[in-house]
Amino acid sequence: MIDRQRSDNRGRVKTRHTGYRSWIALCAFACLFNYPVGSAAAAATPVSNGSQPPASLQVLHWWTSAGERKAVDVMSSKLAEENIQWRDAAIPGGAGLGASKVLKSMVLAGKAPEATQLNGIVFGEWADLGLLLELDDVAAPGNWQKLLFPTVWSLVNNRGHVVAVPLGIHRINNLFYNKKIFDRLNLTPPKTWADFSRVAEKLRQAGITPLAQSSEAWQVATLFETLVLAESGPAYYRSLFVDLNPAAFGDPRMTHALKRLRSLKEWMPTPLRERPWPEMTRELANGAAAMFVMGDWAKGELLAWGLNTDQDFSCSTVPGTADYHLYSVDTLAMFAGDYSHQPAQEKLAQIIMSPPVQTAYNQVKGAISVWRSPDLSKMDSCARASWSAFSKGSAFQAPSLVHRMAADETAKDAIIAEVHRYFVDDKMSESDVQRKLASIARSVTKSGKQE
Ligand code: GAL
Repeated sequence: MIDRQRSDNRGRVKTRHTGYRSWIALCAFACLFNYPVGSAAAAATPVSNGSQPPASLQVLHWWTSAGERKAVDVMSSKLAEENIQWRDAAIPGGAGLGASKVLKSMVLAGKAPEATQLNGIVFGEWADLGLLLELDDVAAPGNWQKLLFPTVWSLVNNRGHVVAVPLGIHRINNLFYNKKIFDRLNLTPPKTWADFSRVAEKLRQAGITPLAQSSEAWQVATLFETLVLAESGPAYYRSLFVDLNPAAFGDPRMTHALKRLRSLKEWMPTPLRERPWPEMTRELANGAAAMFVMGDWAKGELLAWGLNTDQDFSCSTVPGTADYHLYSVDTLAMFAGDYSHQPAQEKLAQIIMSPPVQTAYNQVKGAISVWRSPDLSKMDSCARASWSAFSKGSAFQAPSLVHRMAADETAKDAIIAEVHRYFVDDKMSESDVQRKLASIARSVTKSGKQE
């Protein structure tokens, strides 16, 4: 462990805990992108105190769809009221696949943005490198520890410091359905898999694709993690994707979830193509498809297009998951740099955490507030169901693997790739993929990537 010290712009000494593993990670990035390590170190080197706070913040993120843009607008317009400009660095690509690569390149080139969408356990690694601004001066007076959901509070903490601002909690195990089609055909949302097949058959007979789905790897894996939860509940889910217990991947419950994933292809569009998630949401909206399993950012999209909850579409849950909340928490982290942006960065953190902004942002984003006691009167039925499930506590919560809540990037990417291969190649057996997943878990835990 190497401890380095420097001062923030209020003259307080900050200690940076830089683990050996983080340095190895930094060197690995540098080799990968062919950047000299020095440029990354330069980003972390103190320059001077007392420089004028700039009136703009560059914010890197992947919110590029209609609903996501509206959510960004909520934050950027509030920031503008404080005379701080939000300079957008929006990198398209669902689930942030492109954005995370661009972020690494920018940091290694010594051009870290002042704020970035940085979801999940990965920001602990950035914080260990000493790159992130600690937001304790906003969190302590704001009483975050008491007011946030405990899961969210522990997520944004690293070694006793708050290193990210939570924006909202997304639920992944939603089964969206086209309300007008369901009403017209006199259907109710399926509660069991047997129901699901009956409903799907009726939809097919009516000439409607029962289940919208893209073959993009992260979207397939988003469905798969939901099916794992449906098969087993949060405890087994965690032994797979949080503990990466190799033996768990050989379990019959995994075999069932894989078989379910493959059997659902029967109800999906043919041919199955790689399409961005807003296009699949459009299929649901225009009635080409009747159901869609997706994170509730899809609801944000439907609302942005002028559709209404419980009139045009409704939310149910994937069969077997009504009590559970498969979650992804969006967070913004701030790069400390030379601390010259600290006042503006802290202001952004304060703005995001103010209850009216939390309400307005999450209404358009499709998520729920990170505060334990939000204004329920401002929530639609989907948001209230999400809030009730999440409020039941950690025994009912499952952290999304695909959206970076459970494992690090290496494990996540390797698991997604195998599940996707199984999904597109009907010749691959369940036992084959289970063996491969177990061996990924074994190698990742052995190399010490997962703690
Ligand atoms: C998730 C993110 C959401 C949404 C979605 C689609 O990872 O948490 O905010 O952007 O990806 O890209």
